[in-house]
Amino acid sequence: MAKLQSRYVCQSCGAVTAKWLGRCESCGEWNSIIEETPRESVPGGLGQSKGLSGGRRSAGQRLEFVELQGTSEQAPRLPTGIAEFDRVCGGGLVNGSAVLIGGDPGIGKSTLLTQAVAALGSGAGGPPVKCAYISGEEAVDQVRLRARRLGLGGTNILLAAATSVRDIAASLDSQDAPRIVVVDSIQTMYVDSLDSAPGTVTQVRASAQELIRLAKRRGFALLLVGHVTKEGVIAGPKVLEHMVDTVLTFEGERGHPFRILRAVKNRFGPTDEIGVFEMTEDGLSEVANPSALFLAERRGNVSGSAVFAGLEGSRPVLVEIQALVSPSPQATPRRAVIGWDTGRLAMVLAVLEARCGLALAGNEVYLNVAGGLRIGEPAADLAVAAALVSAATDQAVTDETVVFGEIGLSGEVRAVSQADTRLKEAAKLGFTRALIPPRRARTKKRESDHGLEIREIEHLQDLVAM
Ligand code: TYD
Ligand code: MG
Repeated sequence: MAKLQSRYVCQSCGAVTAKWLGRCESCGEWNSIIEETPRESVPGGLGQSKGLSGGRRSAGQRLEFVELQGTSEQAPRLPTGIAEFDRVCGGGLVNGSAVLIGGDPGIGKSTLLTQAVAALGSGAGGPPVKCAYISGEEAVDQVRLRARRLGLGGTNILLAAATSVRDIAASLDSQDAPRIVVVDSIQTMYVDSLDSAPGTVTQVRASAQELIRLAKRRGFALLLVGHVTKEGVIAGPKVLEHMVDTVLTFEGERGHPFRILRAVKNRFGPTDEIGVFEMTEDGLSEVANPSALFLAERRGNVSGSAVFAGLEGSRPVLVEIQALVSPSPQATPRRAVIGWDTGRLAMVLAVLEARCGLALAGNEVYLNVAGGLRIGEPAADLAVAAALVSAATDQAVTDETVVFGEIGLSGEVRAVSQADTRLKEAAKLGFTRALIPPRRARTKKRESDHGLEIREIEHLQDLVAM
């Protein structure tokens, strides 16, 4: 056999090069390339391209076609009964699908999945479902201890500690395979026909591929836990994201109890829904009304604060946006943002400066979305501007006011989607005033105001002049 040559694989995108490079030419990532010995071709082994059936086939096999309108005996989706989790998945876990759950170490992924499995096993969302939880990070006793401590039970839950994909596959490849399989985490799994260490992109990809293939064949829903690297991407992210049906991220600020589950990709449901949880001593508890939670620590009329009436998926979410503006001795003053887009802040600052004559260039600017939520909507522009103007002028936006609207480069305020849903939520939470974009004439009906005093802002100047 010819000597196997080393190859160099980018741990971020999976690109292969013949020599080591400081920066991946394919994805531009620095220091992501490591040497990996290529997999040996063990006949009948768990090769990456051969699959569990192994061996080389000479002729193709006939496909087993099914009819589009054929009936399937199993329910297509398994709701866990944890509403916040099911919403993000699009109503429950789909049979034969692969879900990747990414997040920082310690954020609560294992806790979330233990609770989900326990809910499924005890039949919280429907008939009890047989589940398996395979941990590559903790011993069985540790997993059991945590479940006990959280008061979780269920007779249908099988626990195992394993890291070999071959062992896992051998145990699950049977008629009575569990309907739900959790693999915690994919970075600890390895395929023994490969020489690369567990956690390398080659191993992560091969392990995921084998497990996903098995999930499709046996029809169980596979939940893969994936750790996020310091750059905020799931290790071997791009390769894994293509392979799975659904990518969920579990995020939250350190020191904050709130955790947000978000669908980044979903073949079987919407991608803009969020699930909100609170990490407590007894595990994760669902937060059915996130607005109340995000606004809980708000102090009354203070400058530099504005409440944004946002929308996460189908659900309105009110959050406080805090800004601090202070003179800076430095030539390039600091700008720091938590929970929003830095580029978007620069744009709002530029518009305030150029179109409204508000001089902020010599100031340090800090922006924070309270509660650890990340906002992606441009609809937050006007609320950010309100917080900034309030901080710069030291005038409070009254605490009964909610704000939303997108800002254009000339300073005009633009309409945003679902204004009515946002206003309704604000009214429900006791707000009395709203600063919003101009509405089209036919929607200017009193009943759509929900009892709020509506102030339409046409241009950012109107806000500054208030
Ligand atoms: P874990 O689910 O192990 O995180 P991950 O699997 O994402 O690495 O959660 C670990 C953290 O959660 C740990 O810091 C302790 C905290 N925690 C609680 O606060 N309450 C609980 O009931 C549990 C189980 C964990
Ligand atoms: Mg864990």
